Amino acid sequence: MELQQAVLGRRSIRQFLPKPVSEEIIQDLIDKSRWAPSWGNTQPWEILVATGKSLDEFKKKNRAAFLEGQASTTDIPTPKVWPDHNKRRYSKLGKSVLSALEIAREDQQARMDHFARMLSFFDAPAVLIFSIDKSLSLEYAMLDVGLILQTFCLLAHGKGLGTCILAAVITYPEIVREVFSLPETKRLAMGVGLGWPDVDAPVNSFERNRGDLDEFVRWAR
Ligand SMILES: Cc1cc2nc3c(=O)[nH]c(=O)nc-3n(C[C@H](O)[C@H](O)[C@H](O)COP(=O)(O)O)c2cc1C
Repeated sequence: MELQQAVLGRRSIRQFLPKPVSEEIIQDLIDKSRWAPSWGNTQPWEILVATGKSLDEFKKKNRAAFLEGQASTTDIPTPKVWPDHNKRRYSKLGKSVLSALEIAREDQQARMDHFARMLSFFDAPAVLIFSIDKSLSLEYAMLDVGLILQTFCLLAHGKGLGTCILAAVITYPEIVREVFSLPETKRLAMGVGLGWPDVDAPVNSFERNRGDLDEFVRWAR
């Protein structure tokens, strides 16, 4: 796939087909993604690939923790406030997702069901969890994780696969540590769901937008 087409065609996928992604494909995507740049070529990421029964257990526990109303305990600070224009974009996205799913604003139960689905990673057949060592500088390591994540998402898209970067994966790090025996010395940086996109699902095709260039570009000539 041509590069521009990949960049412009990738979008977050929130409904997947019930079809596994082979280990060979995942391995190949990671093999290529590791060519992403990083601060001083430190490559601070570690990747945990969850599939099959382990992923089922993780999903079940994550979803249950959410439905029990457990507070999130992320290893990285979760944004709580935004300047108005960022907040507007955030709520617009929320509205677009719910409207594509035909969930009415006041339908609390349906909204809850949607969030529970998100906390079980929209049933993606594979989930990758990116971690970084706690001894690393958080800011630069997170930037590096962002770079490999986007590289991964683009390569996946190039193979006809869908991804959704998911903070929902790192909501309850203690569950990840328990299910996957991840040591306390690792911080969960971000997760991503991977699978074959359901191209007919409206939630995978609603219109998205981006800020105009003059909203965020300043030239100094
Ligand atoms: C760090 C990060 C965390 C995200 N977490 C979630 C999430 O938990 N749930 C979700 O539905 N989408 C999540 N997303 C996807 C964003 O909502 C999505 O990237 C954004 O709306 C732009 O849309 P696009 O990816 O379709 O271009 C996340 C994206 C990023 C970069």
